[in-house]
Amino acid sequence: MNVLVTGGAGYIGSHTAVELLAVGHEVMLLDDFSNSSPAAVDAIRALANRPVGFVEADVGDEEAIDRVFAEGAFDAVVHFAAHKAVGESVAEPLRYYRNNVAGTACLVQCMAEHGVKTIVFSSSATVYGEPVQVPITEDHPTQPANPYGRTKRMVEQLLTDFAAADPSWRISILRYFNPIGAHPSGVIGEDPGDAPNNLLPYIGQVAVGRRERLLVFGDDYPTPDGTGIRDYLHVVDLARGHARALDYLAAAPGLAIHNLGTGRGYSVFEVLRAFEAASGLSIPHEVVARRPGDIAVSYADPSRAHAELGWHARYGLGRMCEDTWRWLKANPGGYGVLDGS
Ligand code: NAD
Ligand code: WQD
Repeated sequence: MNVLVTGGAGYIGSHTAVELLAVGHEVMLLDDFSNSSPAAVDAIRALANRPVGFVEADVGDEEAIDRVFAEGAFDAVVHFAAHKAVGESVAEPLRYYRNNVAGTACLVQCMAEHGVKTIVFSSSATVYGEPVQVPITEDHPTQPANPYGRTKRMVEQLLTDFAAADPSWRISILRYFNPIGAHPSGVIGEDPGDAPNNLLPYIGQVAVGRRERLLVFGDDYPTPDGTGIRDYLHVVDLARGHARALDYLAAAPGLAIHNLGTGRGYSVFEVLRAFEAASGLSIPHEVVARRPGDIAVSYADPSRAHAELGWHARYGLGRMCEDTWRWLKANPGGYGVLDGS
């Protein structure tokens, strides 16, 4: 299929583009470089050794997106383009609603006008909020606890209503848990810029000397070692889940929701130890107060994805840390200066 990958220069988009190319799809990347750099596009092309199209555009720019669909005969869209920092969304909610919700509405409208009716949407386990039970199934209540999570839930609702109005649409909603790791080549990886939001990028910045120590946000949670437990999954496993979702949609119109996680939770200290084992480094760290809004335990029940997508996470925490370290050693400053436009 000819696939438009929005947010394709980003962390998960770049890894997904490589996996889609590897299974024979044609890929056009679209990105506004608000949280990535053109160097990522070069890196994808180096890995793919096949032509990869690119267009710099904002998914919320109706004229630009209409032109993209007029000029490219796409069979499907994989939609990653969004802002994704929880804390930032609390400080700047309108920027998040405009970019994530209005941007998606613009994209979907242009798709409809050009007869492109297949979309894989990048959602997040953050839509579940504080879990009432774990492991978390797709039927778990959705009660997002921050503006970012609410933008994801609103887009899910937009797509659900759209599918009900036109059953010929093929819509996959993928709820990711905690993606980490990097492509085993070390050529593409996560480039969080100066202020990462997540655990492993913080650990990585300590490992390459960009940060003095890891702050452990609380060790008084009701968990075996007192630190938060999450379902970390390898970004390449996650990327491959998108290829499976496209195959699933090709066989069945309608709307489907799948959790993508390993079904296994790891604590902060377990991740820290796994990274130290993978890198041979000792990572200085200090336990500090809990981060406001953090939950104690979250991990997926991925059985629906196993059954319906034929997808399983293959890589364990050790491999996630080894691949992260290989990327960091080769790219201690990420792809270089983020465009940040
Ligand atoms: P990322 O910031 O690396 O990638 C997002 C990309 O989208 C960036 O390259 C950015 O420049 C681009 N972008 C943002 N707004 C755009 C717009 N209006 N038009 C065009 N491009 C735009 O983030 P990521 O971690 O790769 O996340 C990708 C998707 O996965 C996001 O939708 C995010 O909400 C979702 N997600 C991420 C995680 C995670 O932990 N990383 C977990 C669950 C869901
Ligand atoms: C993981 C654990 C922290 C950093 C977030 C978003 C979610 C999704 C994935 C987009 C927690 C602890 C972290 C640090 C720490 N993103 N931690 N020190 O919060 O589960 O999920 O990323 O969809 O929306 O909420 O991931 O990596 O921030 O935290 O102790 O410097 O690591 O308390 O227990 P989280 P995280």
